[in-house]
Amino acid sequence: MTNKIKLSIPLAAEWKDGELYLLDQTLLPLETRIEKQETAEQVWDSIKRLKIRGAPALGIAGAYGLLVAIRPFLNLRGYEFMKELVKQAAYLDSARPTAVNLGWSLRRMRNRAEELRAENTATIYAELEKEAIRIHEEDIDCCHKIGHYGEPLIREGMGVLTHCNAGSLAVSELGTALAPMYTAHNMGKSFRIFADETRPLLQGARLTSWELKQAGLDVTLICDNMAAHFMSRGEIQLVIVGTDRVAANGDVANKIGTLGVAILADYYDIPFYVACPFSTIDLNTATGEAIPIEERDPAEVTSFGSSKVAPDEIKVGNPAFDVTPSSLVKGFITERGIISPPFQQNLLETFGQS
Ligand code: MRU
Repeated sequence: MTNKIKLSIPLAAEWKDGELYLLDQTLLPLETRIEKQETAEQVWDSIKRLKIRGAPALGIAGAYGLLVAIRPFLNLRGYEFMKELVKQAAYLDSARPTAVNLGWSLRRMRNRAEELRAENTATIYAELEKEAIRIHEEDIDCCHKIGHYGEPLIREGMGVLTHCNAGSLAVSELGTALAPMYTAHNMGKSFRIFADETRPLLQGARLTSWELKQAGLDVTLICDNMAAHFMSRGEIQLVIVGTDRVAANGDVANKIGTLGVAILADYYDIPFYVACPFSTIDLNTATGEAIPIEERDPAEVTSFGSSKVAPDEIKVGNPAFDVTPSSLVKGFITERGIISPPFQQNLLETFGQS
């Protein structure tokens, strides 16, 4: 494993002195504002409004957010406290449906609380705090391993395309899709990254290009409709994206527009990889068809930043994610190595016990 790489960009989520702090990503790259999370409602709203976003970061925020949410109930007695904990976990989980990490981490916290139900609430809280920190630390470790296993895919002089933001801001430390890029850069490889801007909320323009540039990588921002052009000119040799949920058969939900990128990559014979930790692989969901796709506010489409760009009362579709069939995926870059087809079998063999 390579030396630990340290980036100097702000943390998306931090647990400090028993309090949860979230970076408000909606303001980036113009403003760096970190907000202390005081209530369950505030955490829910931060998730809903994408102040914190990206599948693994949602898992981390959910776990710490549950600590914030149950604090007012620590004086309840055992059964009443557990009932409230379950209710608060379901409430936080309702903020966004597609990224499986949110439900996964909240379930893990709930299960840990169940194991401790005979203890007093102060002990349960202290143990849940340790569990949330563990979830966060495991994620950091996964990012570094994903970087290690994905780095050899990046060759000197290559063009690598990514969509949305699956970097440090969406996960922890190196991110998932960006981890192989940070690792290759750290090893002195020279290559070029193309970041899709990612309409409607511009995660590629505002977040990916910002964090890569801050870290000194060679990044070129392009509009979503330019990817085919650069592929057709032979400027892109590899695609790596993150994901919000991988179904048992290897179908991949990720930011809207990912499916189009995968189809283009297939047409131009460019390998399309998906980077993710075990917590994003949902073996309980059989295929991509069963993945719930979040539909968001039409105003995100009828505006560009704060400017309105569409007629009043126009009909709008705004699915936040799409599903790429597993047949278009060359492999999954995970903390346990690269998983190749047949995905149904290999995902189960590798992650069946997680
Ligand atoms: O709506 P967002 O910004 O939360 O969507 C994020 C993505 O689609 C990411 O690619 C995905 O969560 C993977 S993050 C490692």
